[in-house]
Amino acid sequence: TTRKRILTGDRPTGKLHLGHYVGSLRNRLKFQDEYECFFIVADLHMLTTKPDKESILLIADNARQIIMDHLAIGIDPNKVTFYLQSAVHEVYELQLLISSLVTVERLQQLPTIKDMANAAGLEQIPYNLLGYPVLQAADILMPRANLVPVGKDNESHVELSRQIARRFNNAYGEVFPEPDPFVQGGTLVGTDGQAKMSKSLDNAIFLSDDAKTVTRRVMSMYTDPARVRADIPGTVEGNPVFAYHDMFNPNVAEVEDLKARYRQGRVGDVEVKEKLAEALNNFLEPMRERRAYYEAQTGFVDELLFNGTQHMRDEAKQTMIEVKKAMGLTGVWHRISRAAEKRAKKERIEA
Ligand code: TRP
Repeated sequence: TTRKRILTGDRPTGKLHLGHYVGSLRNRLKFQDEYECFFIVADLHMLTTKPDKESILLIADNARQIIMDHLAIGIDPNKVTFYLQSAVHEVYELQLLISSLVTVERLQQLPTIKDMANAAGLEQIPYNLLGYPVLQAADILMPRANLVPVGKDNESHVELSRQIARRFNNAYGEVFPEPDPFVQGGTLVGTDGQAKMSKSLDNAIFLSDDAKTVTRRVMSMYTDPARVRADIPGTVEGNPVFAYHDMFNPNVAEVEDLKARYRQGRVGDVEVKEKLAEALNNFLEPMRERRAYYEAQTGFVDELLFNGTQHMRDEAKQTMIEVKKAMGLTGVWHRISRAAEKRAKKERIEA
């Protein structure tokens, strides 16, 4: 095909929530029609912070969850490629080969690495965590991706990938396109009013939550703390309940009415939250139906990930042939093996 390629994805640390939907998943829905999409399950990246055996044993189930979440929101399994990073061995090879094109200094200057170094101390950072962005570059370069949708925090990693692509092409010959970052906006506040929805903060509503759970989570949401009674004027701005209404309630007239009455002290939090729970459940209901449809087909997700990984392996083999040819590594082995074969043949004749 002539469609441009996208590479993006997630570390398999758990099921996806509304924050993921707003920050990245809804874009993937659009991308699947315009681009050839590769969605990575980045378990090798997970190992840079969670290398313990217990975490590794959770990868398979978390991968299934993530893929099911994608199918639930309407990603078409026939249009995109999901793959398991750790099963594409060429990724390990490419990371090593491109690592000579990056200085330790350059990696240490990346904001993500800096943050982790500040938190843990640079001496405490494992080798592969420092190399996290180089591994990501290997992911991106492997299918020769053109566009890489990422959060703001990962933008510098795509910039690094561009630099590596450029340096490789200059040093060895043109193999890689320079990937463009697509920086995704939109973060969703947590149900507790904290800046970001996150599983570890326990302030998330998951795409796989049932209606009861969603309603329960909404009814206990953080709202204007100064508003101890329904007849006190409340603040709409920065109020997570209204942020969610704006994002997920398509009934604009209802939302405007609730806001007006909230500001005047003429509506209770319970009514505002009940309407939000209803809107969210309406939003999630088609996802629940799709999820049930795929879940009824036992093994569907595993087969999808298996086939996608095979597809990515084929791509990776092709890329590595070109990489090694451009670098001259193929020639090195060729000369050695040819000489060895010649001698073996001679020995056979003499015997
Ligand atoms: N680093 C991404 C994250 O924050 C995951 C990831 C790994 C990724 N490899 C990638 C994203 C390649 C885009 C492209 O979870």
